[in-house]
Formats: sequence, C-alpha cells, structure tokens
Amino acid sequence: MKSAAKHRASVRLARSVVALALATSLLGASAGAQKLAARTPRPNEPSAEDIQRVVDQAYARFKNLKEGKNADYIPALAKVDPDLFGIALVTPDGRMYTAGNNTTEVSIQSISKVFTMARVLQDSGGKVFIDNTGVDATGREFNSIVAIEDKKGHEMNPLVNAGAITTTALVGGGSAAEVWKNIADTYDGFAGRKLTVLEDVYKSEAETNQRNRAIAMLMYAYGHFKGDPLQATDIYTRQCSVGVTAKDLAMMAATLANGGTNPVSHKRMLDAQHVPQLLSVMATAGLYDDSGIWLFNTGLPAKSGVGGGLIAVSPGKWGVAVVSPPLDKAGNSVRAQRAIEYISSVLGGNPLAAGGEPMSASGRR
Ligand code: DON
Repeated sequence: MKSAAKHRASVRLARSVVALALATSLLGASAGAQKLAARTPRPNEPSAEDIQRVVDQAYARFKNLKEGKNADYIPALAKVDPDLFGIALVTPDGRMYTAGNNTTEVSIQSISKVFTMARVLQDSGGKVFIDNTGVDATGREFNSIVAIEDKKGHEMNPLVNAGAITTTALVGGGSAAEVWKNIADTYDGFAGRKLTVLEDVYKSEAETNQRNRAIAMLMYAYGHFKGDPLQATDIYTRQCSVGVTAKDLAMMAATLANGGTNPVSHKRMLDAQHVPQLLSVMATAGLYDDSGIWLFNTGLPAKSGVGGGLIAVSPGKWGVAVVSPPLDKAGNSVRAQRAIEYISSVLGGNPLAAGGEPMSASGRR
C-alpha cells in the first residue's frame, strides 16, 4: 500500500475506534440496550447497544433544558405539558430505540406537510410541485402572505402554509371525505398504525385559522389549484391535528430513511425515485427561517411542527423524532433540535460528510 493510502486507511480505522470509544465511554450502560439482540455491525456502524446509549444520553442531557415556549396562536397548543419529552429512533431493519415519554400524543402540525407531499408525489410526480408550489425556501415566515404576493404564489414550497394547503388541494379523491381518507391512509401507512385526529386541537385551530383561509384564497386566486379553497383549508387543518407520539414520527421518518418502505410493515409508501425530491425540500425548508443553520449544523433533512415534534432523516441509516413542545423564536422545538443534533453527531448521521464522521462539523451557534 502506498504511504498516502496507508495513512488514509489508518485515519479511517482511528475514526471508527474513536466513534466506538466515544459512544461507549461518554455514555453509561442502559436497560433499553440490554434488551436488544446483538448483531454484527458493519465497519463504522454503531451497534444496537451504542444507539440505545446515545438515545438515553440525549434524553438525560436535555431533560432539564427549560428554554422555549409552547406555541399559543392555536389556543389548544398552549395547554400541552411543556415538560413532555420523548425521543425515538428507528433503523431500516425496523429496530426502535426510545427514551422518555413515547405514549402521549401531540398534534403533528407542519410535519404532516411532508406526508401529504409524499401522497401527491406518489400520485402525480414532482412536476406538479414545480408548477404549483415551487420547491424553494421563501426566506419568510411559514405563513407569510408577502411571500405569496412577491411571486404570485410561485417559488415557494410544499412545507410552508401556502404550498401545503395547495398540496392538500392537489390530493386526489374528489369529495372531502375521499381526500381525507387518502391523506389519513397515507399517514397511517408511514406510521404503521391507525392514527386519529386530536379533536380539541382541530376545533381550536379551525376557530382561529382565518389567516390560512386567506392564504388558500390567494393561492386559488393565482390559479395554483382548482376546487374549494375553504375545503382545502379545512382538510389541511385536520391533517395538522393528527395525534402522534415520538415513536409514530420516528417510524414515519424511518420510512423515508429506508427509501420509501415502512421498515416494519414493509409496505411501500413512496417510490424510491421520489424520496430524494421530498428530502431535498425538507433540507432547504424544513425548519422555517432556521433551515439553513440547521442544515449547516447537521446536514439532515428534517421537519418541525408547532406542536413540538421534529423529525430528521439520515438516509439509509435511521429516522429520528423528538417531541417536546417549547419552541424557539423561529418556531422549532428547542429540546428536539438539541437532542437530534447530539444523537446525529455521535452516530455520524450527517449525509453531507463523506465518512458520516462521528462528532463531525456539527456545532451549535
Ligand atoms: O397552519 C398552521 O399554522 C399550523 N397548523 C401548522 C404550522 C406549523 O407547524 C409550522 N410549520 N411550518
């Protein structure tokens, strides 16, 4: 072996050893990890026990972080317990790793937009997004009307409200009941269980969603969809009110990490060719105005919701989700961002880093 190649090989080996040492020395033993059957990891791949330890460690590290505030522009969200904190990570082989509260449901909110986009991608392909919503970050708030006016509803994306309501209007089915069934079946397939709407959240948002109705009217007026804008807004409000735990969200994220197939049910939810299209919009616009800093720190396609959920996808490696309602000024869950950044940096989840370097360039501002 030439000496440069030798050097590179030994650097790679040292990295693997450091990764393993970090995962084991930084983190203590965990009951959850003991339950997992041992399997031989690929070189540089963390073992099941390592992953469980990292998840436990993230929970312990950020459990007492009290920054942020629940969303309150939807009155029901202000009433959710701010101490609720659950973490779940699912690998493509269907193993799930959890810590904290994984039984209490929060409303999925904007994370729903990802899966309605998946429905339309699957049924109609990517071009309808280029034609009707755009796939660009707007650089403005998720419910900006200025962004619509600026380009007459073009050059936005399916993860801001205008693009998301348009996407809901593009779901096939005809009647409101058929469209809803199409959306609900899609979410259930990604999550691998039957999800239900949190009716108190739906009612609360339906009573206060005048701004979204205005957004829908504008998108309709600019010709981005046909049909009834108020019906589209109502179905969109319902989709945002679907109740999910961190486990549900992690399974949904893992379906994307697994190329579009649910890792437990093995049901294909999205053709593999469309998965990168979906992940690209999550990467550029998933965390509102802070999508850039999030991508800079983690490299992970992700999506947040004002209910306190955050999902992130390390393609081929895992999907992770955290639920914790207090949000920062940009509207993203504080603990969820910190926990996922931590987990991904230890596990080497950054898809933009050639070797998935553990403890790589990610860093807080
Ligand atoms: O339409 C709304 O304002 C909420 N149902 C969802 C907002 C949200 O989660 C922010 N997302 N980008």
